[in-house]
Amino acid sequence: MNAKVFPSDLDAAIRQLKAERNAVVLAHYYQDSEIQDSADFIGDSLQLAQEAAKTTADVICFAGVHFMAETAKILNPSRIVVLPDLAAGCSLAEGCPIGRFRAWKAKHPGAIVVSYVNCTAEVKAESDVIVTSSNAEKIVRALPSDRPILFAPDKNLGRYVAKQTGRELILWPGSCIVHETFSERKLVALMVRHPQAKVIAHPECEPPVLAHAHFVGSTTALLKFAVASPDHAFIVATEAGILHQMRKAAPHKEFIAAPPEGNCACNECPHMKLNSLEKLYLCLRDLSPRLELSAELIEAARRPIDRMLAMS
Ligand code: 13P
Ligand code: SF4
Repeated sequence: MNAKVFPSDLDAAIRQLKAERNAVVLAHYYQDSEIQDSADFIGDSLQLAQEAAKTTADVICFAGVHFMAETAKILNPSRIVVLPDLAAGCSLAEGCPIGRFRAWKAKHPGAIVVSYVNCTAEVKAESDVIVTSSNAEKIVRALPSDRPILFAPDKNLGRYVAKQTGRELILWPGSCIVHETFSERKLVALMVRHPQAKVIAHPECEPPVLAHAHFVGSTTALLKFAVASPDHAFIVATEAGILHQMRKAAPHKEFIAAPPEGNCACNECPHMKLNSLEKLYLCLRDLSPRLELSAELIEAARRPIDRMLAMS
């Protein structure tokens, strides 16, 4: 079939392909709404890894970014893992290349290496434990206190975890291009216009933005907080894709996207947004592009991920 020819009812075609292939579609909250609506499971990075670890599907279609699909493959080496666009990367993973990471580690012999899941499989393979935004605090608290701790690659999450736990972390100087874009100045102006609104923020945000937050957490934690809260209005400082599930779960509440500094759509992740419903259909139809990793890399990267799953 011609790659450019699409069925008139893409949703129905995707449902049919999922059944034929015994495929599961796992999607992150930052995906386009229509992708979220055709997914079997939507979650934060930890939940997506946990779901990937327990799936019995033959095919995992990962509607997210490359490092997330890598994690699914590491946990399921015998299954086919496809993603709508192989080029969907992450500024955090790209800003921490393995050569520089090794050199940084070598400067701190004896340190425990904690890596945020937003990193490459090569970096995971050389880490002691992986964390996500929902378990980083808990895992860092559980680490022995007699050794230095390296934390890569997100300095904002690292700084936040250090503050919460009182542990000293040596930080890799990376950040997310989406979360660093929120403007404190515009946030304060928005808070003045909406005095009843609670500010909820992802820990990848810069400290001046986090300082205004009434609640800080992973994407799932932000969603749960907003739904359970007695408050009715929220300014949301994370990628704007999460607003779709917030509005679905609490249609009577108001969710306002925190503004970026420029007049741009910079609060949308350009990597996540490379995926589309058309590409999702194609990857299920063609079982391509596939995520492939060597057996050695899978084995080495699995250890710190298993440690994280056990400690979560
Ligand atoms: P969580 O969904 O785990 O909070 O992560 C956010 C993120 O930026 C994923 O890349
Ligand atoms: Fe990476 Fe930031 Fe995009 Fe998440 S939002 S995938 S951390 S670039």
